[in-house]
Amino acid sequence: MTGPPPKRDVLSIRDIAPELPDLLARAARLKSERRRGILRPTLRGKNLAMIFEKPSTRTRTSFEVAMNDLGGQSLYLSTKDLQLGRGETIADTARVLSRFVDAITYRAYRHVDMAELAKWSTVPVINALDDLEHPCQIAADLLTMHERWRGRFRGRRLAWVGDGNNVFHSLLLGAAAVGLDLAAAVPAGYDPHPEVLEAARALAQRTRATIVLGRDPREAVRDADAIYTDVWVSMGDEAEAAAREAAFRGYQVNDELVGLARPTAFVLHDLPAHRGQEITDAVLDGPRAAVWDQAENRLHAQKAILEWAVARPRPRPRRR
Ligand code: CP
Ligand code: NVA
Repeated sequence: MTGPPPKRDVLSIRDIAPELPDLLARAARLKSERRRGILRPTLRGKNLAMIFEKPSTRTRTSFEVAMNDLGGQSLYLSTKDLQLGRGETIADTARVLSRFVDAITYRAYRHVDMAELAKWSTVPVINALDDLEHPCQIAADLLTMHERWRGRFRGRRLAWVGDGNNVFHSLLLGAAAVGLDLAAAVPAGYDPHPEVLEAARALAQRTRATIVLGRDPREAVRDADAIYTDVWVSMGDEAEAAAREAAFRGYQVNDELVGLARPTAFVLHDLPAHRGQEITDAVLDGPRAAVWDQAENRLHAQKAILEWAVARPRPRPRRR
């Protein structure tokens, strides 16, 4: 006897690595249809609970609009207002929410809490950022690069300049999964998690992508087709702000650094930006910035992820 198919959690971009080509194609189609005013209610009657432990502009808004566009509903649940904030366990919260909704997105401080929610939830859990990964962000970033490179990642070179944390972890894995070469400059003490790096190297071996990890931003951006940076002080790292600002000095994406990349290179940033720290006004407001398309693509990429995780094909009618 075969039971129901396993639920489709997206805790890591690894969970959707094999699906990325299809998801990006679907996201591009959803984007083009929305531009033409076409919205199809593929998630009609579905409800998404969105638990947030930290602030959000893009993730919250794009998930809410995605559910509206797809004919479903979303519920914004701040942990300040939930009983979770008063000590109800993640397991109990997961079991209760699973009785009401069709999927849960969760922005958490700790990946262990994300895993705990997924363990107890009977509906798919989608990681909306934690200390380990930000998979939905990287799906949108890959869509942005896919658009600009006409669907071809092979032979392209992406430079990362900055912290080896959540966004970089998902980027390492996502780039490796689609066969995109990655060269990174990360200051000493801020390297990616070794297990994530190892997993990315295993994926890259299959796609024949290269991963180069170094310290020098000038080296990383040489011949790059795109440059990506993130904040120096992530949410939750505020107590380390002074040490981080000292360690990351020299890792700013400015006109001089961008000038070392290919003339057609564009600049990515997941946002919010700390202008004057990791990126200058001139770059962010200049013609090389792809960041506004990148932010918009959160919507389209997440729609594709939601459909994949939540919508199920109708069961085949039985033959008599
Ligand atoms: N990039 C991103 O996740 O932005 P928010 O924190 O505004 O959701
Ligand atoms: N690395 C950043 C990403 C914000 C979207 C953070 O964790 O705060």
